[in-house]
Amino acid sequence: MSANNTPLFEKVAFIGLGLIGSSLARVIKAHHLAGEVVASTRSEKTLADAKQLGLIDQGFSSASEAVQDADLIVLALPVQATEKALQQIKPYLRADAIITDVGSTKGNVVQAAKNVFGENLPKGFVPGHPIAGSEHSGVHAGKIDLFAKHKVILTPLESSDPIAVQKLIQLWQSAQAEVICMDVAQHDEVLAHTSHLPHLMAFNLVEQLANRQDNLDIFRYAAGGFRDFSRIAASDPQMWHDIFLANKKAILSAVTGFEDQLQRFKQVIQSEDSNALMGMLGHAKAARQHFNHMLANTPLMENNAVTQQFTISPGSQQFSGHFSVPGDKSVSHRSIMFGAIAEGTTHVTGFLEGEDALATLQAFRDMGVSIEGPKNGEVTIHGVGMHGLKKPASALYMGNSGTSLRLLSGMLSAQAFDTVMTGDASLSKRPMERIAKPLRVMGAKIQTTGEKGTPPVSITGAQGLKGIHYDLPMASAQVKSGILLAGLWAEGATSVTEPEPTRDHTERMLRAFGYDVKTQKQDHGNQITLQGGGKLVGTNIQVPSDISSAAFFMVGAAISQNADLTLQAVGINPTRTGVIEILKQMGADISVLNERIAGGEPIADIHIRGGKTLKGIHMPEDQVPLAIDEFPALFIAAACAEGETILTGAAELRVKESDRIQVMADGLIALGIQCQPTDDGIIIQGKGKTGEWSPIFTGGQIESHHDHRIAMSFSIAGLRCAEPITIHGTETVATSFPTFTELAKKAGMLIQQSDV
Ligand code: S3P
Repeated sequence: MSANNTPLFEKVAFIGLGLIGSSLARVIKAHHLAGEVVASTRSEKTLADAKQLGLIDQGFSSASEAVQDADLIVLALPVQATEKALQQIKPYLRADAIITDVGSTKGNVVQAAKNVFGENLPKGFVPGHPIAGSEHSGVHAGKIDLFAKHKVILTPLESSDPIAVQKLIQLWQSAQAEVICMDVAQHDEVLAHTSHLPHLMAFNLVEQLANRQDNLDIFRYAAGGFRDFSRIAASDPQMWHDIFLANKKAILSAVTGFEDQLQRFKQVIQSEDSNALMGMLGHAKAARQHFNHMLANTPLMENNAVTQQFTISPGSQQFSGHFSVPGDKSVSHRSIMFGAIAEGTTHVTGFLEGEDALATLQAFRDMGVSIEGPKNGEVTIHGVGMHGLKKPASALYMGNSGTSLRLLSGMLSAQAFDTVMTGDASLSKRPMERIAKPLRVMGAKIQTTGEKGTPPVSITGAQGLKGIHYDLPMASAQVKSGILLAGLWAEGATSVTEPEPTRDHTERMLRAFGYDVKTQKQDHGNQITLQGGGKLVGTNIQVPSDISSAAFFMVGAAISQNADLTLQAVGINPTRTGVIEILKQMGADISVLNERIAGGEPIADIHIRGGKTLKGIHMPEDQVPLAIDEFPALFIAAACAEGETILTGAAELRVKESDRIQVMADGLIALGIQCQPTDDGIIIQGKGKTGEWSPIFTGGQIESHHDHRIAMSFSIAGLRCAEPITIHGTETVATSFPTFTELAKKAGMLIQQSDV
């Protein structure tokens, strides 16, 4: 019902009232969306039952009677019956009637309408397809929530009136469906692959087994896998008969694709090609997980929806323990990228099984690299060499990961095939011209196709890149790395000068793979040079624990009275240790113990004790690139410090997964902290007082803006809050630190994760 109490429709007429029609009728009745609901079906019993269930006000045996004066007509019939029904109702339609249907194929419904109305289709004709169902049918099987959280596809035609489309969107949204509009042809093609082919395969398998002599035994011993796979073969044969014939062309092409793929499986099993078989199975499993994630995140990508939150309650008495945080994100990304283009096998241990690094892993699987794992942080990559990557079948989805997108921009600019890279809501807002520009100077054909030099990034296959020298305008390890990686394939030398030192994992790891990379100290940063045309040789990579993840625990311990925490085997590459230096300058009790080298990277155990009141400082600008990801956590430390903390020279924070200066300032203010964001930093008035351990933060509501580090930083604030803090949009924490809540609880934080 609309705000002024006028229902959305005056009279709705259903032609056919099975599972789908009766479910929609339930929604219309429950939400008072129509003044009157009527239906026509051949079965008098269905009409009587529908009336008794309160789904319709009147039933008719003929469609022509039902549609009179109706402003919405829903054809809820088998698709093959559409033409006949339209023929019958044509003379009785109101001029402004909206006509829609619920069939699984759309091309033939449009054709049926053209056969009846000619090329001038009624303005109100808008075909539709709710992607929901069940193996049960009939008016009694209908459910009011059948469409909830399901997709409904509308396929408006050129002739369709936008008002009619809008009203149908409103109708389906009342059923809690997610409405998508697309082209008729696209609909039929997509559905042929994702719905019609799986149904055909299920019918086919059951039919194949049922025809065997020993069928009873087979069905008796069939396990859960068979039950899951064959469930849809119990669907209505008449309906599927109609669909298979109605969408014949698209289905036959999907079947051909299936046969080809099955043939490939047959071949590798026949030849016992174990690597290829593992590669195909691993790719399929990963693709399934990846799609699952993408599907679960569709609302996030499209409307920035929030699906998870953290609530941290006051009262944590301690923040202590001995444990290690997961693997380093930057190193994990690079281990896959370099292992993929190396010759031979690369074994990785300590790999971060977070969504960002998994996006990189999936991208290389999509480009034909056989990768085993990850399993307990172990990954084995069967490198394909410098010229072995293959064109991916579709766009590479990089999720939330700027590192994947920027480094791959460099690598893919040098490949002979075309690629497109996309990302989630946060990545889609991040600047990509910073990497595209220098790559173009090298000869790359790369475009940032988003509105403001943002993703999607589209690369046209090119060969013959030329080495360049590039003075980086900003201190960015991602841009530096992207250029150097393109340089691996370029003619001559490629060199990059950085304005200040930035993380050097690319340089170190290329050397570990046997590639010669020179680093020369300059006045401020370094100049890094490599020659194109060499090769990488597979190796073993041990990924250290991520200092960026450890930072939340370091700050947590530093602001807690009774903390005593040891974080084991943390990477302390000198280009990453700004957070330790800054916390020390603020007076935190931190020691770096057992320094050692693992897999070419320095690591150490970090011991932090609470109980010291931190002091506000002017954060040293030379530490900014070395602590670039840790500032959100450091702002929490600053709020707990005594006196003012000033940060300058950190404008890069505005273009991270969110605008970290603004988003942190908003959150701090919401929790009762005075602060002033500036163009390149922030001024925070700390509330700490020497020797006092009263709460620093009020309770409150925080928006993470799809930024994992914002979500984790405000979780840490919960250690010094007076009332609960709720952080909305914490699903992205899984990009870098999937075990964050588990470890935070272990240390003593009162944190709860819930789905919303
Ligand atoms: C990264 C570099 C940094 C950092 C990011 C990871 C890398 O980004 O913020 O989390 O792995 O090279 P910028 O290069 O944009 O500073």
